[in-house]
Amino acid sequence: MSLAPAPTAPQFPARIFSGIQPSGGLTLGNYLGALKRFVQKQDEGIETIYCLVDMHAITVWQDPAKLRHATREAAAGFIAAGIDPARSILFNQSQVTAHAELGWIFNCVARMGWMSRMTQFKDKAGKNSENVSLGLFAYPALMAADILAYKATHVPVGEDQKQHLELCRDIAIKFNNDYGVNFFPVVEPVIEGAATRVMSLRDGTMKMSKSDPSDQSRINLTDDADTISKKIRKAKTDSEPLPDTLDGLKDRPEARNLVNIYAALSDMTAAQVMTDYAGAQFGTFKPALADLAVAKLEPITLEMTRLMQDPAEIDRIIGQGAARADAIARPIVDEVYDIVGMIRSRVV
Ligand code: AMP
Ligand code: TRP
Repeated sequence: MSLAPAPTAPQFPARIFSGIQPSGGLTLGNYLGALKRFVQKQDEGIETIYCLVDMHAITVWQDPAKLRHATREAAAGFIAAGIDPARSILFNQSQVTAHAELGWIFNCVARMGWMSRMTQFKDKAGKNSENVSLGLFAYPALMAADILAYKATHVPVGEDQKQHLELCRDIAIKFNNDYGVNFFPVVEPVIEGAATRVMSLRDGTMKMSKSDPSDQSRINLTDDADTISKKIRKAKTDSEPLPDTLDGLKDRPEARNLVNIYAALSDMTAAQVMTDYAGAQFGTFKPALADLAVAKLEPITLEMTRLMQDPAEIDRIIGQGAARADAIARPIVDEVYDIVGMIRSRVV
């Protein structure tokens, strides 16, 4: 038996891809864990592709009108936060069919056992696993397709997406092995900064999330200055003053969360914040954090509101982004069909 020739190693140029679900409004968690870093990568001059993953959003029920609104609002949020549609590619997933096509192929590469171990699926399905959509189970294979349809090499995300990115690596490796090619890069997660996991303002052990039933648990990028300020002042804390080292925050998840948020918003390290506020009571620290959050977020909120007054312009921007995305992904997915053994002879 002859072995497949050793794959030559094509160069994979640095390319960033990331996505956010338009399944509700963007939160401070999305901003600090993802958006703010997306802007930094763009400004470092790396090729950046950012996607509003509407097909992932419908893995749980979405009201059609709300989905459309949330997609436009998320696009406005990206632009308001500093994504420049001329420098980054910004689009919604369903406009580029390569995602669904490669997603199917990856459904046939990924193993049931791998998918069953995904903690996000287990959390979302809960006791209801017989009654959730099949799409929710296959979700990480579509996510791998999002990334690999562009042969992206680096994926900036919050901490919660780490396991999904490991699965993306496993899919790339298995595809390359199964077909004896070195076609897909093995992606690197980029999980960095002081707030890779922003916690709920009501419970420091739970992630801040757009799907939390309590609006008090999160800061939305659509909240006005007064609302942001009130939510921070009412955030759950303990009654101790802030310690002088990070170690002292170990068993104080709520205090730790507020310090991390302060650090991420001010581009400081958590240790620097501790030095500045050692011994401070929350009566001092919370108003300082509220002022900082308003100063950083209010301009974004105002710009989002302005952009949302012209939805046709937003649709035009993401439509252009989709055409540019398609130009990259189409030839890659066509090559995948060829590698897999699909005949491509349709007359056009
Ligand atoms: P999602 O809203 O679940 O589509 O998440 C979009 C991006 O935001 C992903 O990179 C997440 O890791 C990130 N993200 C969401 N919630 C948080 C959070 N509470 N803290 C940090 N990053 C988050
Ligand atoms: N699963 C991600 C989340 O919920 C969203 C997402 C979909 C994504 N496709 C992606 C993130 C590709 C990074 C790369 O946060």
